[in-house]
Amino acid sequence: MSATGLLDELAGIGRNPTSGGYDRLAWTGVDAECRQWFEQCAEALGLEVEVDRNGNLWAWWNESAPGSVLLLGSHLDSVPSGGAFDGPLGIASAFAAIGDLQRDGFVPSRPVAVVAFADEEGARFGVACAGSRLMTGALAPSTALALTDASGVTMAEAMRAAGLRPETLGPDEARLRRIGEFIELHVEQGHLPGEGHQLGLADAPLGLATEIWPHGRWRVDIRGSQNHAGTTPLADRDDPMIGLARLILSVRERAELAGVLATVGKVRVHPGAVNAVPGLASAWIDARGADESRVREVIAGIGVDAVEESWTASTPFDTVLTAALAATIGHPVPLLPSGAGHDAGVLALAGVPTAMVLVRNPSGISHAPEEYAEPDDCDRGVEALVAILRARAS
Ligand code: HGY
Ligand code: MN
Ligand code: MN
Repeated sequence: MSATGLLDELAGIGRNPTSGGYDRLAWTGVDAECRQWFEQCAEALGLEVEVDRNGNLWAWWNESAPGSVLLLGSHLDSVPSGGAFDGPLGIASAFAAIGDLQRDGFVPSRPVAVVAFADEEGARFGVACAGSRLMTGALAPSTALALTDASGVTMAEAMRAAGLRPETLGPDEARLRRIGEFIELHVEQGHLPGEGHQLGLADAPLGLATEIWPHGRWRVDIRGSQNHAGTTPLADRDDPMIGLARLILSVRERAELAGVLATVGKVRVHPGAVNAVPGLASAWIDARGADESRVREVIAGIGVDAVEESWTASTPFDTVLTAALAATIGHPVPLLPSGAGHDAGVLALAGVPTAMVLVRNPSGISHAPEEYAEPDDCDRGVEALVAILRARAS
Protein backbone atom coordinates (compact mmCIF):
# COMPACT_ATOMS: atom_id res chain seq x y z
CA MET A 1 0.00 0.00 0.00
CA SER A 2 1.42 3.43 -0.90
CA ALA A 3 1.58 6.32 1.56
CA THR A 4 -1.13 8.13 -0.37
CA GLY A 5 -3.25 4.96 -0.29
CA LEU A 6 -2.96 4.86 3.49
CA LEU A 7 -3.72 8.59 3.68
CA ASP A 8 -6.84 8.00 1.59
CA GLU A 9 -8.05 5.62 4.34
CA LEU A 10 -7.59 8.45 6.85
CA ALA A 11 -8.96 11.18 4.58
CA GLY A 12 -12.57 11.08 5.80
CA ILE A 13 -11.67 11.47 9.49
CA GLY A 14 -12.15 14.97 10.88
CA ARG A 15 -12.62 16.56 7.46
CA ASN A 16 -14.82 19.64 7.34
CA PRO A 17 -17.03 19.14 4.24
CA THR A 18 -17.35 22.89 3.70
CA SER A 19 -13.73 24.02 4.04
CA GLY A 20 -12.10 20.70 3.12
CA GLY A 21 -9.81 21.31 6.07
CA TYR A 22 -9.15 18.93 8.96
CA ASP A 23 -10.15 19.43 12.58
CA ARG A 24 -8.17 16.73 14.39
CA LEU A 25 -7.59 18.26 17.80
CA ALA A 26 -5.86 16.31 20.54
CA TRP A 27 -7.89 14.02 22.80
CA THR A 28 -11.15 14.50 20.88
CA GLY A 29 -13.33 11.79 19.33
CA VAL A 30 -11.77 12.59 15.95
CA ASP A 31 -8.30 12.11 17.43
CA ALA A 32 -9.45 8.75 18.75
CA GLU A 33 -10.53 7.75 15.21
CA CYS A 34 -7.12 8.78 13.86
CA ARG A 35 -5.47 6.66 16.54
CA GLN A 36 -7.64 3.72 15.49
CA TRP A 37 -6.38 4.19 11.91
CA PHE A 38 -2.80 4.07 13.26
CA GLU A 39 -3.56 0.82 15.12
CA GLN A 40 -5.19 -0.74 12.04
CA CYS A 41 -2.18 0.13 9.86
CA ALA A 42 0.14 -1.33 12.48
CA GLU A 43 -1.87 -4.50 12.94
CA ALA A 44 -2.02 -5.04 9.16
CA LEU A 45 1.78 -5.15 9.27
CA GLY A 46 1.93 -7.37 12.35
CA LEU A 47 3.41 -4.53 14.42
CA GLU A 48 2.85 -4.47 18.17
CA VAL A 49 1.00 -1.29 19.25
CA GLU A 50 1.77 0.40 22.56
CA VAL A 51 0.51 3.60 24.21
CA ASP A 52 3.26 5.15 26.32
CA ARG A 53 2.80 6.95 29.63
CA ASN A 54 2.28 10.27 27.82
CA GLY A 55 -0.28 9.02 25.34
CA ASN A 56 2.11 8.71 22.40
CA LEU A 57 1.37 5.73 20.13
CA TRP A 58 4.18 3.30 19.19
CA ALA A 59 4.08 0.55 16.56
CA TRP A 60 7.00 -1.89 17.08
CA TRP A 61 8.77 -3.99 14.44
CA ASN A 62 11.08 -6.62 15.95
CA GLU A 63 11.13 -4.83 19.31
CA SER A 64 13.07 -7.63 21.01
CA ALA A 65 15.99 -7.36 18.59
CA PRO A 66 19.27 -6.14 20.08
CA GLY A 67 20.48 -2.59 19.54
CA SER A 68 19.05 0.88 19.66
CA VAL A 69 15.70 1.77 18.17
CA LEU A 70 15.44 3.27 14.69
CA LEU A 71 12.43 5.56 15.19
CA LEU A 72 10.23 6.87 12.36
CA GLY A 73 6.87 8.65 12.52
CA SER A 74 5.34 12.05 13.22
CA HIS A 75 1.92 13.16 14.55
CA LEU A 76 -1.79 12.71 13.75
CA ASP A 77 -3.31 15.89 15.12
CA SER A 78 -3.89 19.06 13.08
CA VAL A 79 -4.52 22.74 13.51
CA PRO A 80 -8.19 23.70 13.04
CA SER A 81 -9.03 23.48 9.32
CA GLY A 82 -5.56 22.08 8.72
CA GLY A 83 -4.13 20.11 5.83
CA ALA A 84 -4.16 16.36 5.18
CA PHE A 85 -0.40 15.85 5.07
CA ASP A 86 1.10 17.73 8.05
CA GLY A 87 1.83 14.84 10.40
CA PRO A 88 0.00 11.88 8.85
CA LEU A 89 2.30 11.81 5.79
CA GLY A 90 5.24 10.89 8.04
CA ILE A 91 3.31 8.08 9.66
CA ALA A 92 1.74 6.72 6.46
CA SER A 93 5.14 6.80 4.71
CA ALA A 94 6.75 4.85 7.54
CA PHE A 95 4.04 2.17 7.42
CA ALA A 96 4.24 2.01 3.61
CA ALA A 97 8.03 1.58 3.74
CA ILE A 98 7.73 -1.22 6.29
CA GLY A 99 5.09 -2.89 4.12
CA ASP A 100 7.40 -2.74 1.08
CA LEU A 101 10.29 -4.22 3.06
CA GLN A 102 8.17 -6.98 4.57
CA ARG A 103 7.04 -7.97 1.07
CA ASP A 104 10.74 -8.33 0.20
CA GLY A 105 11.24 -10.58 3.21
CA PHE A 106 13.39 -7.99 4.99
CA VAL A 107 13.68 -8.41 8.77
CA PRO A 108 15.36 -5.57 10.69
CA SER A 109 18.43 -6.45 12.73
CA ARG A 110 17.45 -3.82 15.34
CA PRO A 111 14.16 -2.64 16.81
CA VAL A 112 12.22 -0.30 14.51
CA ALA A 113 9.25 1.77 15.69
CA VAL A 114 6.73 4.15 14.15
CA VAL A 115 5.55 6.79 16.61
CA ALA A 116 2.53 9.09 16.58
CA PHE A 117 3.40 11.81 19.08
CA ALA A 118 0.36 13.18 20.85
CA ASP A 119 -0.81 16.79 20.49
CA GLU A 120 2.01 18.10 18.30
CA GLU A 121 0.14 21.18 17.12
CA GLY A 122 -0.93 22.34 20.57
CA ALA A 123 -4.04 23.66 18.82
CA ARG A 124 -6.42 22.77 21.65
CA PHE A 125 -4.36 23.36 24.80
CA GLY A 126 -1.82 25.89 23.50
CA VAL A 127 1.51 24.10 23.95
CA ALA A 128 3.08 22.59 20.83
CA CYS A 129 4.64 19.12 20.87
CA ALA A 130 3.03 18.28 24.21
CA GLY A 131 3.45 14.50 23.83
CA SER A 132 7.12 14.59 22.88
CA ARG A 133 7.91 17.37 25.38
CA LEU A 134 6.33 15.35 28.19
CA MET A 135 8.42 12.34 27.14
CA THR A 136 11.70 14.30 27.18
CA GLY A 137 10.85 16.24 30.34
CA ALA A 138 10.68 19.57 28.48
CA LEU A 139 7.07 19.96 29.67
CA ALA A 140 6.15 19.31 33.29
CA PRO A 141 3.12 17.05 33.79
CA SER A 142 1.59 19.48 36.28
CA THR A 143 1.80 22.29 33.72
CA ALA A 144 0.39 20.15 30.93
CA LEU A 145 -2.51 18.71 32.91
CA ALA A 146 -3.68 22.15 34.00
CA LEU A 147 -3.79 23.55 30.46
CA THR A 148 -7.34 24.29 29.38
CA ASP A 149 -9.05 24.49 26.02
CA ALA A 150 -11.46 27.22 24.85
CA SER A 151 -14.33 25.67 26.80
CA GLY A 152 -12.31 25.30 30.01
CA VAL A 153 -11.71 21.55 29.73
CA THR A 154 -8.30 20.66 31.18
CA MET A 155 -5.86 18.40 29.39
CA ALA A 156 -6.20 15.99 32.32
CA GLU A 157 -10.00 15.80 31.84
CA ALA A 158 -9.65 15.39 28.08
CA MET A 159 -7.03 12.65 28.39
CA ARG A 160 -9.10 10.82 30.98
CA ALA A 161 -12.18 11.03 28.74
CA ALA A 162 -10.03 9.53 25.97
CA GLY A 163 -9.18 6.57 28.18
CA LEU A 164 -5.71 7.70 29.27
CA ARG A 165 -4.46 7.89 32.87
CA PRO A 166 -3.09 11.46 33.24
CA GLU A 167 -1.47 10.54 36.55
CA THR A 168 1.13 8.48 34.58
CA LEU A 169 2.40 11.51 32.60
CA GLY A 170 6.05 12.32 32.95
CA PRO A 171 9.59 12.04 31.55
CA ASP A 172 10.32 8.64 30.01
CA GLU A 173 14.11 8.41 30.33
CA ALA A 174 14.29 4.68 29.70
CA ARG A 175 12.35 4.98 26.45
CA LEU A 176 14.36 7.98 25.32
CA ARG A 177 17.63 6.13 25.97
CA ARG A 178 16.53 3.26 23.73
CA ILE A 179 16.26 5.54 20.67
CA GLY A 180 19.33 5.41 18.45
CA GLU A 181 17.98 7.93 15.96
CA PHE A 182 14.68 9.58 15.05
CA ILE A 183 14.01 10.31 11.38
CA GLU A 184 10.81 12.30 10.83
CA LEU A 185 9.46 12.51 7.29
CA HIS A 186 7.23 15.56 6.86
CA VAL A 187 5.54 17.55 4.14
CA GLU A 188 7.45 20.71 3.24
CA GLN A 189 5.84 23.84 4.75
CA GLY A 190 6.56 27.13 3.07
CA HIS A 191 9.43 27.78 0.70
CA LEU A 192 12.34 28.94 2.83
CA PRO A 193 15.66 29.72 1.20
CA GLY A 194 17.95 26.70 1.49
CA GLU A 195 21.47 25.99 0.35
CA GLY A 196 21.38 26.61 -3.38
CA HIS A 197 17.60 26.58 -3.42
CA GLN A 198 15.86 29.89 -3.15
CA LEU A 199 12.46 28.33 -3.51
CA GLY A 200 12.51 25.43 -1.13
CA LEU A 201 12.11 22.18 -3.02
CA ALA A 202 11.10 23.73 -6.33
CA ASP A 203 13.14 21.28 -8.38
CA ALA A 204 13.63 18.30 -6.06
CA PRO A 205 11.03 15.87 -4.67
CA LEU A 206 12.78 15.57 -1.32
CA GLY A 207 14.89 17.71 0.95
CA LEU A 208 16.65 17.39 4.29
CA ALA A 209 16.13 19.90 7.09
CA THR A 210 19.21 21.51 8.58
CA GLU A 211 17.52 23.11 11.57
CA ILE A 212 14.32 24.45 13.07
CA TRP A 213 14.19 28.20 13.55
CA PRO A 214 13.75 29.48 17.12
CA HIS A 215 10.09 30.16 17.70
CA GLY A 216 7.67 30.94 20.49
CA ARG A 217 4.06 31.64 21.45
CA TRP A 218 2.91 34.48 23.72
CA ARG A 219 -0.48 35.48 25.09
CA VAL A 220 -1.54 39.10 25.60
CA ASP A 221 -4.61 39.96 27.72
CA ILE A 222 -6.08 43.45 27.21
CA ARG A 223 -8.65 44.35 29.83
CA GLY A 224 -11.46 46.87 29.43
CA SER A 225 -14.90 47.66 30.88
CA GLN A 226 -17.74 45.54 29.63
CA ASN A 227 -20.79 47.60 28.82
CA HIS A 228 -23.82 48.04 26.55
CA ALA A 229 -23.00 48.77 22.90
CA GLY A 230 -26.09 50.92 22.48
CA THR A 231 -25.96 53.08 25.59
CA THR A 232 -22.26 53.71 26.35
CA PRO A 233 -20.96 56.97 24.87
CA LEU A 234 -17.72 56.50 22.94
CA ALA A 235 -15.93 58.94 25.25
CA ASP A 236 -16.89 56.83 28.27
CA ARG A 237 -15.65 53.54 26.85
CA ASP A 238 -12.68 51.45 27.93
CA ASP A 239 -12.77 49.19 24.87
CA PRO A 240 -9.97 46.55 24.73
CA MET A 241 -10.60 46.02 21.02
CA ILE A 242 -8.85 49.30 20.29
CA GLY A 243 -5.78 48.04 22.09
CA LEU A 244 -6.08 44.72 20.27
CA ALA A 245 -6.16 46.46 16.91
CA ARG A 246 -3.07 48.50 17.82
CA LEU A 247 -1.31 45.35 19.04
CA ILE A 248 -1.92 43.44 15.81
CA LEU A 249 -0.58 46.31 13.71
CA SER A 250 2.41 46.75 16.02
CA VAL A 251 3.32 43.06 15.83
CA ARG A 252 3.32 43.16 12.04
CA GLU A 253 5.31 46.42 11.86
CA ARG A 254 7.93 45.20 14.32
CA ALA A 255 8.24 41.86 12.55
CA GLU A 256 8.89 43.65 9.26
CA LEU A 257 11.50 45.85 10.93
CA ALA A 258 13.21 42.87 12.58
CA GLY A 259 13.02 40.68 9.47
CA VAL A 260 11.21 37.84 11.25
CA LEU A 261 7.79 36.19 10.99
CA ALA A 262 5.11 37.08 13.54
CA THR A 263 1.45 36.22 13.47
CA VAL A 264 -1.63 36.97 15.53
CA GLY A 265 -3.73 34.03 14.38
CA LYS A 266 -5.93 33.54 17.40
CA VAL A 267 -7.92 36.03 19.48
CA ARG A 268 -10.54 35.49 22.15
CA VAL A 269 -12.98 38.26 23.11
CA HIS A 270 -15.14 38.24 26.23
CA PRO A 271 -18.11 38.19 26.27
CA GLY A 272 -18.01 38.08 22.46
CA ALA A 273 -21.46 39.59 22.02
CA VAL A 274 -22.23 41.82 19.04
CA ASN A 275 -24.05 44.29 21.31
CA ALA A 276 -21.57 44.49 24.21
CA VAL A 277 -18.37 46.49 24.56
CA PRO A 278 -15.93 43.72 25.54
CA GLY A 279 -14.37 43.42 28.96
CA LEU A 280 -11.39 41.40 27.79
CA ALA A 281 -9.57 40.78 24.53
CA SER A 282 -6.88 38.08 24.44
CA ALA A 283 -4.47 37.57 21.56
CA TRP A 284 -1.85 34.91 20.87
CA ILE A 285 1.36 35.84 19.05
CA ASP A 286 3.47 33.31 17.17
CA ALA A 287 6.92 34.67 16.33
CA ARG A 288 9.80 32.90 14.59
CA GLY A 289 12.93 33.57 12.65
CA ALA A 290 16.50 32.51 12.03
CA ASP A 291 17.82 34.90 14.69
CA GLU A 292 16.52 34.40 18.24
CA SER A 293 17.33 37.93 19.43
CA ARG A 294 15.31 39.46 16.58
CA VAL A 295 12.35 37.22 17.41
CA ARG A 296 12.47 38.34 21.01
CA GLU A 297 12.90 41.96 19.88
CA VAL A 298 9.41 41.85 18.35
CA ILE A 299 7.81 40.77 21.61
CA ALA A 300 9.86 43.07 23.82
CA GLY A 301 8.80 46.08 21.82
CA ILE A 302 5.02 45.67 21.64
CA GLY A 303 4.51 47.75 24.77
CA VAL A 304 2.17 45.37 26.63
CA ASP A 305 2.84 42.39 28.86
CA ALA A 306 3.10 39.17 26.87
CA VAL A 307 3.04 35.82 28.70
CA GLU A 308 5.38 33.31 27.05
CA GLU A 309 3.39 30.07 26.61
CA SER A 310 6.03 28.08 24.73
CA TRP A 311 9.53 28.58 23.41
CA THR A 312 11.72 26.44 21.19
CA ALA A 313 15.35 27.41 20.86
CA SER A 314 17.17 27.23 17.55
CA THR A 315 17.44 23.50 16.86
CA PRO A 316 20.15 22.15 14.59
CA PHE A 317 19.63 18.60 13.32
CA ASP A 318 22.36 15.98 13.48
CA THR A 319 24.75 16.81 10.64
CA VAL A 320 26.37 13.35 10.55
CA LEU A 321 23.01 11.59 10.39
CA THR A 322 21.73 14.08 7.82
CA ALA A 323 24.78 13.55 5.63
CA ALA A 324 24.36 9.78 5.93
CA LEU A 325 20.72 10.06 4.86
CA ALA A 326 21.70 12.21 1.89
CA ALA A 327 24.17 9.51 0.80
CA THR A 328 21.59 6.77 1.36
CA ILE A 329 18.85 8.56 -0.58
CA GLY A 330 21.25 8.87 -3.48
CA HIS A 331 19.63 11.52 -5.67
CA PRO A 332 20.30 15.21 -4.88
CA VAL A 333 18.44 16.35 -1.78
CA PRO A 334 18.66 20.07 -1.01
CA LEU A 335 19.28 21.16 2.56
CA LEU A 336 16.92 23.77 3.93
CA PRO A 337 15.83 25.23 7.26
CA SER A 338 12.40 24.61 8.74
CA GLY A 339 10.32 27.53 9.98
CA ALA A 340 7.84 24.97 11.27
CA GLY A 341 8.32 23.28 14.62
CA HIS A 342 8.33 19.49 14.89
CA ASP A 343 8.59 16.69 17.44
CA ALA A 344 11.93 16.00 15.74
CA GLY A 345 13.11 19.31 17.19
CA VAL A 346 12.07 18.30 20.69
CA LEU A 347 13.98 15.00 20.46
CA ALA A 348 17.00 16.74 18.94
CA LEU A 349 17.07 19.18 21.88
CA ALA A 350 16.89 16.15 24.22
CA GLY A 351 20.07 14.77 22.64
CA VAL A 352 18.56 12.16 20.30
CA PRO A 353 20.35 12.07 16.91
CA THR A 354 17.56 13.39 14.69
CA ALA A 355 17.02 14.30 11.04
CA MET A 356 14.06 15.28 8.89
CA VAL A 357 13.18 14.24 5.36
CA LEU A 358 10.93 16.85 3.70
CA VAL A 359 8.57 15.98 0.85
CA ARG A 360 7.94 18.69 -1.75
CA ASN A 361 4.78 20.74 -1.35
CA PRO A 362 4.28 22.54 -4.69
CA SER A 363 2.61 25.62 -3.24
CA GLY A 364 4.31 25.54 0.15
CA ILE A 365 0.88 26.23 1.70
CA SER A 366 0.39 24.46 5.02
CA HIS A 367 -1.90 24.64 8.05
CA ALA A 368 -4.64 25.09 5.45
CA PRO A 369 -6.87 22.81 3.32
CA GLU A 370 -4.71 23.55 0.25
CA GLU A 371 -1.68 21.76 1.75
CA TYR A 372 -0.58 19.15 -0.79
CA ALA A 373 2.12 16.75 -1.93
CA GLU A 374 2.09 14.94 -5.29
CA PRO A 375 1.66 11.12 -5.10
CA ASP A 376 4.93 10.65 -7.03
CA ASP A 377 6.80 12.79 -4.50
CA CYS A 378 5.19 10.87 -1.66
CA ASP A 379 6.42 7.66 -3.34
CA ARG A 380 9.94 9.13 -3.41
CA GLY A 381 9.58 9.70 0.33
CA VAL A 382 8.63 6.07 0.93
CA GLU A 383 11.53 4.90 -1.26
CA ALA A 384 13.85 7.07 0.83
CA LEU A 385 12.59 5.47 4.06
CA VAL A 386 13.00 1.99 2.51
CA ALA A 387 16.60 2.82 1.62
CA ILE A 388 17.20 4.29 5.08
CA LEU A 389 15.78 1.21 6.82
CA ARG A 390 17.90 -1.08 4.63
CA ALA A 391 20.99 1.00 5.33
CA ARG A 392 20.46 1.47 9.07
CA ALA A 393 18.56 -1.63 10.20
CA SER A 394 20.11 -4.49 8.17
O1 HGY B 1 3.62 25.36 14.65
C1 HGY B 1 4.37 24.62 14.03
O2 HGY B 1 5.33 25.07 13.46
C2 HGY B 1 4.09 23.16 13.95
O3 HGY B 1 3.27 22.93 12.86
N1 HGY B 1 3.54 22.64 15.16
MN1 MN C 1 1.81 21.73 11.81
MN1 MN D 1 3.74 18.78 11.66
